[in-house]
Amino acid sequence: MKIIRLENIFKIYGSGETEVKALNNVNLTIDEGEYCSIMGPSGSGKSTAMNIIGCLDRPTSGSYYLDNVDVAQMNDKALAHIRNKKLGFVFQQFHLLPQLSALENVMLPMAYGGINPKERRDRATEALIRVGLEKRLNNKPTQLSGGQQQRVAIARAIVNRPVVLLADEPTGALDSRTTQEVMDIFSELNASGITVVMVTHEPDVARQTQRIVWFRDGEVVHLNLTPADLSQMAVS
Ligand SMILES: Nc1ncnc2c1ncn2[C@@H]1O[C@H](COP(=O)(O)OP(=O)(O)OP(=O)(O)O)[C@@H](O)[C@H]1O
Ligand SMILES: [Mg+2]
Repeated sequence: MKIIRLENIFKIYGSGETEVKALNNVNLTIDEGEYCSIMGPSGSGKSTAMNIIGCLDRPTSGSYYLDNVDVAQMNDKALAHIRNKKLGFVFQQFHLLPQLSALENVMLPMAYGGINPKERRDRATEALIRVGLEKRLNNKPTQLSGGQQQRVAIARAIVNRPVVLLADEPTGALDSRTTQEVMDIFSELNASGITVVMVTHEPDVARQTQRIVWFRDGEVVHLNLTPADLSQMAVS
């Protein structure tokens, strides 16, 4: 089943002299259960594509089917609903709320779902156990290391049981040891059935996924590189 289907997607910023074609006719499908990374030079459209896939933004034109529903031109409220139900998003800079504990940060996405407080707490605890933070439930973000903060962010992203987990340079702010801890969590989540799509600049990170999609100048230039292909390419 194609869980993500982008068809003839354009994203154009500005107009006239200052027009930027951030995405120039992107066609890309991702199967349910895939573990996929997106690579390519700075400015090639990776984040623009991820923001559209993550329903944080809309394309200028084209169709985007998420789980067989065309979400390309949905209004903000409908997109927010889809995001909450079907998607989890992890960012390079964690984006945790500093005044809340790890547990409270992870409970937040359940605020809209009509889930009772006890179940919210139980599910948030379970998500934090899954990322190995059972001893840090009551710590605030400033009391956690970068890797631990990113694990809280991953717990928050999975607590509503998304079908797709998206991550834009999730290890970009982490050292190599912590990067591996976070990658191990993504691998486990994918093994449990969640589709994972991540943007990365790091070949060592991309090589741990199953499929690499390569962007250049707003276009997909390689749809399906394997980790072995990547090792043979001169990537920088
Ligand atoms: N809000 C915006 N307004 C105008 N131009 C934008 C906007 N966001 C992105 N762009 C432009 O669109 C192009 C693609 O940007 P994007 O952020 O998707 O690149 P990227 O591949 O994620 O790069 P990086 O690896 O540096 O994160 C760039 O030329 C960028 O300058
Ligand atoms: Mg980017």
